[in-house]
Amino acid sequence: MSILVSKKAIMITAVCAAMVFAQSFAQKEHHKEEKPQNLKVLPKDISEEDLHNAMRNYSRALGVRCNYCHEGQKIEGQERMRFDFASDSKKEKDITREMIKMTADINSKYLGKIMNGKLEQITCVTCHNGHSTPNISVDSLKRDAEPAKH
Ligand code: HEC
Ligand code: HEC
Repeated sequence: MSILVSKKAIMITAVCAAMVFAQSFAQKEHHKEEKPQNLKVLPKDISEEDLHNAMRNYSRALGVRCNYCHEGQKIEGQERMRFDFASDSKKEKDITREMIKMTADINSKYLGKIMNGKLEQITCVTCHNGHSTPNISVDSLKRDAEPAKH
């Protein structure tokens, strides 16, 4: 990409500077909010690393991004969004709290009691398999996934 007009160059420099400023501001804001303020299911003293790993796992298991469960606003001229992670405005966040409890219950009350707890534990991906809405019916499976005829 070549810059032909100096006016354009000035414009681009100004936009870049604004973006760098906005980004450093967003990061500072983010740091301030680092300590979780609204955990109702996860342990309140969870480490930052464990919290972020859990969030990444939910996102991957459902094939979504943070804004599926968290209120986010676009920042002018940036890819990333500004989030209010503590907010409970999205129903998906509350559903997820129930899903976390349900998953823990399935593991402790049911799977954990079969074969002296030797079975694998389940996680979100066991049911969701990369989709926000899991398969409910076998009819949604591809035809070639049907059992072979003998
Ligand atoms: C499938 C839903 C879901 C997705 C996707 C998700 N989160 Fe969360 N997040 C939650 C839930 C639920 C809580 C609250 C847990 C609780 O109440 O114990 C939470 C809490 C948080 C908190 C703590 C907020 C506070 O102050 O209490 C942070 C920070 C956070 N998430 C970051 C992220 C980031 C970053 C991503 C994307 C990588 C993400 N989340 C993706 C459901 C989700
Ligand atoms: C035992 C299977 C199972 C497990 C494990 C499970 N879910 Fe779900 N989840 C479901 C079913 C079933 C639905 C309802 C789908 C529907 O209504 O069509 C659902 C719905 C949801 C929804 C609402 C989606 C929508 O379409 O509105 C969210 C969000 C969600 N689950 C998050 C999670 C997260 C995060 C985890 C892991 C902590 C998890 N689930 C673990 C079975 C499961």
